[in-house]
Amino acid sequence: MKKKVVSFLVSGRGSNFKTVAEKIASGYIPAVSGVVLSNRADALALETARAMGIPACTVLPARYSSREAHEEALIRELEARKTDLVVAAGYMRILTPYFVRQYKNRIINIHPALLPSFPGVDAQTQALHYGVKITGCTAHFIDEGTDTGPIILQKAIAVEENDTVESLSKRILIEEHRVLPEAVKLFCEGRLRVDGRRVNIL
Ligand code: GRF
Repeated sequence: MKKKVVSFLVSGRGSNFKTVAEKIASGYIPAVSGVVLSNRADALALETARAMGIPACTVLPARYSSREAHEEALIRELEARKTDLVVAAGYMRILTPYFVRQYKNRIINIHPALLPSFPGVDAQTQALHYGVKITGCTAHFIDEGTDTGPIILQKAIAVEENDTVESLSKRILIEEHRVLPEAVKLFCEGRLRVDGRRVNIL
């Protein structure tokens, strides 16, 4: 079977991107890395990508007249690499329905909470303030809502009494680095079947 091309949308540090890209490079995930696209020029992920020999570029939203025009530019880059799967790895912009339709059930996001709890930004802070005893992370397909798409994998962790946002985020991140590569691997192996809201693992 032809290997899938996986491309990445990033905004910052890029530790999730790095983890997936390393597992692609090692052959654990049967895929090739396509391109890394950032909405910010200062994203550390861009440097990491270049150091790994993966094409990377900034597509600045301010240069475009509308959200769709910006996304058209992203799509041109993704298509130039024949992208099969888009991984939103810490991409801090909401994708429009236009983009989501182009890549229906082909965009995976990692979210630092157990969805549908605590969608949107600062999920770890939301969880801590709410006082939940268990939180975690979720790999899901992106649909037209905010963090509402079909769930692929989740991992729960306990919230400790003396947790801060930093300590909690750190423990969740360890699980993100396990869950996201597994979700990408399952996709690349053709083992994810989306049935309405449910994702069956074959
Ligand atoms: C992660 O916590 C991810 O879940 C959230 O943003 C953070 C990105 O971290 N969406 P990194 O850029 O992958 O290191």
